Amino acid sequence: MTRHFLRDDDLSPAEQAEILDLATELKRDRWSRKPLEGPQTVAVIFDKSSTRTRVSFAVGIADLGGSPLIISTANSQLGGKETAADTARVLERQVAAIVWRTYAQSGLEEISAGTTVPVVNALSDDFHPCQLLADLLTIREHKGELAGLTMSFFGDGASNMAHSYLLAGATAGMHVRIAAPAEFAPAADVVADAERIARATGGSVLVTTDPDAAAADADVMITDTWVSMGKEDEKAQRVAIFGGYRVDRRLMGLAASDAVFMHCLPADRGFEVEAEVIDGAQSIIWDEAENRLHAQKALLVWLLEQQHTGSAA
Ligand code: CP
Ligand code: NVA
Repeated sequence: MTRHFLRDDDLSPAEQAEILDLATELKRDRWSRKPLEGPQTVAVIFDKSSTRTRVSFAVGIADLGGSPLIISTANSQLGGKETAADTARVLERQVAAIVWRTYAQSGLEEISAGTTVPVVNALSDDFHPCQLLADLLTIREHKGELAGLTMSFFGDGASNMAHSYLLAGATAGMHVRIAAPAEFAPAADVVADAERIARATGGSVLVTTDPDAAAADADVMITDTWVSMGKEDEKAQRVAIFGGYRVDRRLMGLAASDAVFMHCLPADRGFEVEAEVIDGAQSIIWDEAENRLHAQKALLVWLLEQQHTGSAA
């Protein structure tokens, strides 16, 4: 049965842990698995800009013995003359998997519904689940177990990153806090899904407008750009609203003394994070960026294994 990875809760807690363990193995022994040997091709499609995702998928697919085919939508028929569903039908006859960075989550749902190869969300307006696999791997490396840790996100609560922290953190049994202005609160259905997952894993969810409450004794302090891709026209309004949610030295001082700071990057120093924090001793952003490679390789290995073993969801 074809498994897809469109949002963080497409993986059960056990599956998420299995992929993180595999990522640790692949980080130790980078060229140990060659499921794409042939080479088989993986299509990696970008409707939006990227540095980390583009590089880590290209390098990771090559590490696995495969051939990455990087497609910019601007230079393809997708989104212009051709639907996502028709594009997927063409690709699936030739590639082992489809990785897509796009705007609407519905596009990913549309192609995965009619496709026989795994589809991976490389960031949509609603979720960035590949980033979360890398983040959880990084937190685990620095803190040991994930379950029971408090992970606090500050800024745009309605963003892809906030939504993914809610779902992936709850899946890992973490206490997830989102501090955001009321008008940028996370989507109610995502919060409800995270709460349901957290009840089963022993985690918890807190959504608040109070950044100090979210920071108190937190183990992991996180922010992201205030102006996600596609929201550039709202920049002035967003900068005005999010000012109180900047992660600065004062806010870090409220967290646990051994708290780490994370940011998926790219970052706007002086806006969502003070330079002294992102470039300071508690920041683990470069490990986080590197771990995109290892986490995504593990995800691809796991998805391809599901294809071959025919495992059910
Ligand atoms: N963090 C992340 O996804 O970075 P890119 O936009 O550079 O891929
Ligand atoms: N929230 C950001 C993440 C970038 C990796 C965006 O969507 O632009």
